[in-house]
Amino acid sequence: MSIRKAESADAGDLVRLRSIMLEQVIGGPVPREDLEVIEEFFGHWDYDDPLCLVAEEDGKVMGCIAASFYRLFPGAKNPTGLLADVHNFAVYEEYRGQGIGRALFSHVLRMCRERRVGRVSLYATGMGRPLYESFGFSSDAVTCPEMRLYYKDLAGLDI
Ligand SMILES: CC(C)(COP(=O)(O)OP(=O)(O)OC[C@H]1O[C@@H](n2cnc3c(N)ncnc32)[C@H](O)[C@@H]1OP(=O)(O)O)[C@@H](O)C(=O)NCCC(=O)NCCS
Repeated sequence: MSIRKAESADAGDLVRLRSIMLEQVIGGPVPREDLEVIEEFFGHWDYDDPLCLVAEEDGKVMGCIAASFYRLFPGAKNPTGLLADVHNFAVYEEYRGQGIGRALFSHVLRMCRERRVGRVSLYATGMGRPLYESFGFSSDAVTCPEMRLYYKDLAGLDI
């Protein structure tokens, strides 16, 4: 098994794997309109940012993982201020339980360490959680809750 950067020829696998991952998050099938957005994205993406890796054997993609790297100002818990969000992590059902997920996740963590990332974050599904915990991930008690504004509300703001 080898791990390499995803490329445009992987678009079909990335769409399928993303929908497998989203099914775990939403607990049911991914709506058609969401799939169309995902297909459109992978059809035109530059395959550079965020970093996306695939695990492959004999030309067959078995799973993928992505990481977005960014920077905030430093603090005591994260002296470099460098952050990584790990996402889009899925292995096709028929290849699960063989260490492919662990290999993909280890690869990304090694890259985080090489880049001196001070905090790695992710959202855990029930299936991913035991793996993350085995690497020492835990739910942080957040001082300030995350707040969000989505594009439709942003577009409608009187600013
Ligand atoms: C999470 C996922 C990527 C793991 O992929 P995988 O290739 O099966 O992972 P591995 O074989 O390396 O196993 C990793 C860990 O998962 C757990 N695991 C694997 N197979 C399992 C099984 N049949 N039953 C229970 N736990 C299992 C174990 O904790 C295992 O740890 P170990 O290496 O100490 O045995 C895969 O289950 C998946 O694609 N799930 C659906 C999408 C998803 O939820 N993604 C995570 C988003 S946060």
